[in-house]
Amino acid sequence: MNSLSLNNLLKSIYDPLEPIYIKSGGEIAYSPDQHLAGIIPPIAPGNFGSKAFRKEFNLRFAYVGGAMVGGISSAAMVEALAEADLLGIFGASGLSPQAVEENVRRLNRSLPGKTYGSCLIHTPHDPSWEERVTDIYLENNVTLVEASAFLQITPNLVRYRLRGLSERPDGSLLVPNRVMAKVSRLELAKRFFSPPPEKIVRALLEKGQISESEANLAKYIPMAQDLTAEADSGGHTDFRAAITLWPSVIQLADEYSRERDYEFPLRVGAAGGLGTPSAFLVAQDLGCSYFVTGSINQSCVESGLSVAAKALLAKASQTDVTAAPAADMFEMGSKVQVLKYGTLFAPRALKLAELYRQHGSVEEIPAEDLKAIEEKIFLKPLSQIWEETQAFFRERDPSQLQKAEDPKYKMALIFRWYLGQASRWAINGVDARRADWCVFAGPSIGAFNEWAKDSFYQDPANRKVGELALNLMYGLAVLKRFALARDLGLVPDDLPFNLKPLSPEQLADFI
Ligand SMILES: Cc1cc2nc3c(=O)[nH]c(=O)nc-3n(C[C@H](O)[C@H](O)[C@H](O)COP(=O)(O)O)c2cc1C
Repeated sequence: MNSLSLNNLLKSIYDPLEPIYIKSGGEIAYSPDQHLAGIIPPIAPGNFGSKAFRKEFNLRFAYVGGAMVGGISSAAMVEALAEADLLGIFGASGLSPQAVEENVRRLNRSLPGKTYGSCLIHTPHDPSWEERVTDIYLENNVTLVEASAFLQITPNLVRYRLRGLSERPDGSLLVPNRVMAKVSRLELAKRFFSPPPEKIVRALLEKGQISESEANLAKYIPMAQDLTAEADSGGHTDFRAAITLWPSVIQLADEYSRERDYEFPLRVGAAGGLGTPSAFLVAQDLGCSYFVTGSINQSCVESGLSVAAKALLAKASQTDVTAAPAADMFEMGSKVQVLKYGTLFAPRALKLAELYRQHGSVEEIPAEDLKAIEEKIFLKPLSQIWEETQAFFRERDPSQLQKAEDPKYKMALIFRWYLGQASRWAINGVDARRADWCVFAGPSIGAFNEWAKDSFYQDPANRKVGELALNLMYGLAVLKRFALARDLGLVPDDLPFNLKPLSPEQLADFI
């Protein structure tokens, strides 16, 4: 192909809705009438992922903005995603049940006829939260939850899933409540692809929390039809490699779908690392049914994070993130991924985790270490932190104070004060605690920043969550067409393909 034809071909690739006709010599034809050697078909950016998924949730794109703790994925973000025909999940975790209820009521009012989801996070350290929030979702008709951090299936999750399960006159099942489970491990995926555990179903029936018919039908449905396989990501993560995790979970879904003969297909969504069209192409080509993003959305205008912390995120590279102890599962040694650029949270939190591992109580901490953490990390004597912690739990969950009669548990509560406050300081942009900001983020934010460098989206003030998503879906369509052209031998194997994000005006021509 001569260079003029190659240029024409490349230009045409950027308009994914136009077919490209190829003549036998490899030249581009301008109409389909001539003797053609091939065609690069139009690919609509909305056609990726599972059609059934898009239909089920009434979406144009199989794209999900995942939950982000403490309302970082705010009601405004969920609304913006819905406006762009994408699926948003409200970040309920870490908020009071009252705040969760206010937000789902707002979403019910603002999004009639649209689907949205809200996070239901497993809270073994505060079982009353999980129970109350489940009630709120049931009372307010929230028909989709993103279930996260579950290490086992809990009664709350089962009663949510089974509420309203019934048989239609034609014998098909009506399953009003959908669970989108988020896992990083196959053993957990198996639990979600299985029906609700019989023991839990029986216990709920005995307590009158589900009806006899809901209990009888439970064995015909999986706990979750949609399961997000989360690779190395922001927030809680096992740092799993996407290209090994996603295919394994898809294979499992396939096995379970065939063995169990469910009425509905099991679907696997991709999460972790999705920040560029190339990453989306990998997820698409591996067979993922939907795409979940988090870190990139956090830097958008609609996110609940402070503007100053968004500015840090927008400058981060892929290596500016690191592991730190998780506040909610501190004692278990669980990890979250956080920004290390512009904040000292990670090394400070790791120091606390190390002291927790080494000592049985605050009193056992050597005087030198105690002085260092009081002066550099807490900025207060630990006795004062303990008083504040007691005041908080007297209100929220007094059983924690009983447990804190165990001195090691008391130390965990004190250290968790810092971990919990640190993310609030980042959300609220508390300047005096800037060095302690905990900003959850995965390498996808760095990949996005590198892609968006020198474009309209370099500035976080221009990052609108819906436009970013559409840019990624558009880019996916273009890259898919480029890959087809390469497979057909129409472009040189090693031709670099420079695709940058489009401005909203440019994007409007293609989406
Ligand atoms: C700031 C932040 C907070 C998060 N909080 C939650 C959460 O509360 N519940 C949850 O299921 N996932 C949470 N996640 C994970 C995201 O929903 C999403 O699965 C993940 O960010 C996708 O990977 P990525 O960060 O590479 O885009 C959080 C992620 C970030 C970045």
